[in-house]
Amino acid sequence: MYGNDFGPGSDTPLNATETPDYTDALQEYFDGLIADDSRIEPRDAMPDGYRATLIRQIAQHAHSEIIGMQPEGNFITRAPSLRRKAILMAKVQDEAGHGLYLYSAAETLGVDRSELLDKLHNGKQKYSSIFNYPTLTWADMGTIGWLVDGAAIMNQVPLCRCSYGPYARAMIRVCKEESFHQRQGYEILWTLSKGTVEQQAMLQDAANRWWWPALMMFGPPDSGDAATDGHTAQNMAWGIKRFSNDDLRQKFVDMTVPQAIKLGITLPDPDLRWDEERGHWDFGEIDWDEFWRVIKGDGPCNAQRMALRVGSHEDGAWVREAAVAYADKVAARESAGAVA
Ligand code: 3HC
Repeated sequence: MYGNDFGPGSDTPLNATETPDYTDALQEYFDGLIADDSRIEPRDAMPDGYRATLIRQIAQHAHSEIIGMQPEGNFITRAPSLRRKAILMAKVQDEAGHGLYLYSAAETLGVDRSELLDKLHNGKQKYSSIFNYPTLTWADMGTIGWLVDGAAIMNQVPLCRCSYGPYARAMIRVCKEESFHQRQGYEILWTLSKGTVEQQAMLQDAANRWWWPALMMFGPPDSGDAATDGHTAQNMAWGIKRFSNDDLRQKFVDMTVPQAIKLGITLPDPDLRWDEERGHWDFGEIDWDEFWRVIKGDGPCNAQRMALRVGSHEDGAWVREAAVAYADKVAARESAGAVA
């Protein structure tokens, strides 16, 4: 038996591959934590599949954050005022921080961020489809805050109750900052909605371009069949996902349509109508061919995003090498001092 204590406090991470005697007792311990809605911590025994799906999801979440810096970074030099520039810079810096937070959360599962970044760079891991669309006007900055960060909040608040402790805790701070992101975006749009006819047209154009890709952020439709429902059924059983993709998408539409009405814009969906009986907004069919096409690399900006990402990574190699060299030097000096 692998020690007596296989829960928090054991000295090494336990999982099925590394512990040949991953016993029913360990599985029972894990299942008990999930059933009690407790948190699984890095040192707890966990099934390989649980570890693998968390590494996949947290890594892709982190990748989305750092790639997500690009569309908005495009407007930092073109913000209409110093105040707007300062706010946009703060937001883009926040996204970088979210990425670092999430790579740190992924590393608690026994992977290294360099490995995850390699997978991003060679297409073996994804980032959110939404970031493959271009930012064409200042109204896009507001619409990204309002719709993209709004969708991110809708999806990330339940993750604050994710069964994996480090991920859930990372989400608490991320969600607080996303709220600032969403509000600053909506404020930009509120200003444009009270502006000139040209500014109102710019706002409407941005909403037309970002509405449907924002709905796609919640992932493919629920098929209702665990066998074809992607990761949803298993991830809900493991307490990673708290709501299905369609449930969160519907909550987002219900929250956002009244905000669009306040802005005086028309969302680009002729099927959008309030269903009194359901108590929800009905909306039209999402173009899932576009969704899978963009995910597979054929979106408007996929190549540009990846070229800038890989280029930045390569340009920054000297910083990583210097940091590692310095850390090695300090460690060598400390161990020499320990020996003397
Ligand atoms: N873009 C790209 N890929 C997507 C996607 C999207 N919008 N939605 C789903 N997919 C992929 C999934 O990754 C999965 O592919 P994989 O097996 O290769 O990973 C496949 O489509 C099937 O989808 P599922 O719904 O079965 O997958 P999940 O259960 O992982 O659900 C998810 C997808 C809802 C995005 C979930 O992974 C999740 O909640 N992730 C955490 C939040 C996140 O990553 N958000 C992305 C945006 S971050 C952001 O906007 C930050 C803001 O500050 C700018």
